[in-house]
Amino acid sequence: MNALLETHIDLPLFARGKVRDTYELSDDRLLMVATDRISAFDYVLPTGIPDRGRVLTQLSVFWFQRTAQLQENHLLQPGEDGRSMIVRRAQRIDFECVVRGYLAGSAWAEYRKQGTMAGEPLPPGLRQSEKLPEPIFTPATKAETGHDENITFGRMADQIGSELAESARDASLRLYLAAVEHAERSGLILADTKFEFGLIDGRLVLIDEALTPDSSRYWDAATYEVGSSPESFDKQFVRDWLAESGWDRESPPPELPDEIVEQTRRRYLTAYERLVGEPLLAPAAP
Ligand SMILES: Nc1ncnc2c1ncn2[C@@H]1O[C@H](COP(=O)(O)OP(=O)(O)OP(=O)(O)O)[C@@H](O)[C@H]1O
Ligand SMILES: [Mg+2]
Repeated sequence: MNALLETHIDLPLFARGKVRDTYELSDDRLLMVATDRISAFDYVLPTGIPDRGRVLTQLSVFWFQRTAQLQENHLLQPGEDGRSMIVRRAQRIDFECVVRGYLAGSAWAEYRKQGTMAGEPLPPGLRQSEKLPEPIFTPATKAETGHDENITFGRMADQIGSELAESARDASLRLYLAAVEHAERSGLILADTKFEFGLIDGRLVLIDEALTPDSSRYWDAATYEVGSSPESFDKQFVRDWLAESGWDRESPPPELPDEIVEQTRRRYLTAYERLVGEPLLAPAAP
């Protein structure tokens, strides 16, 4: 089974990100292709994960179509290859719009240290992975290099204006709540997720990917337990293996063993199947 690591399409390149190769179709349309590249600890690894790009694109398409009435998004047309999307080009708002319903990741770290989340106080005594009294919007800056920084809503509002910041926050919360409900019916907990928005003709539009295992923390509801860190449906195997591998995180990262590739691939396919309710179809023959 082959992983697609890089595309070479005869169109002007708009951006080559960690995962997606994006091309310019016209002044107002982009072709976004999700490759099978995978990153961990901010490095793109030399080994790809077959089917990963198709899962990311087709899950995004699933969610864009499902939530279009709740919030306008950039999808114009899914590509026939199952890994690309034709989208409307937007002026990106350079913030990650994160919504958290459970205490995990960097939010758990902040709470443990100082009892707050995105700078706002939370009730005392909450435990790791515990459900929050209500979902909270916790924006982060989109750093060009290195780690994104969690900021307060007030700082986001200062930079882009309260009206736009409030619209992005309200849209994020609406989308999260709708997705939580669907995930629940699939036996999954959507612990948190990250959205990106842009402006098209002055309107707020959801862009990038939506509610994929890369942008979201999904947990299996059946094995979820407060007080520990549940496995998420993403690159956990890869991160764990890399952490154990002796790699120094400064030199180029090592190739992944076949077994880790396969376990990770399964994880993405399972997330797709659980959420969409049917297996990912094999790519159409060329
Ligand atoms: N409709 C859109 N209009 C303009 N830019 C978009 C649109 N949708 C997504 N993007 C941008 O295209 C890029 C997608 O590439 P990819 O997801 O691989 O990047 P990334 O490694 O996550 O990088 P970044 O940190 O910039 O998000 C992102 O920079 C994303 O913000
Ligand atoms: Mg991205």
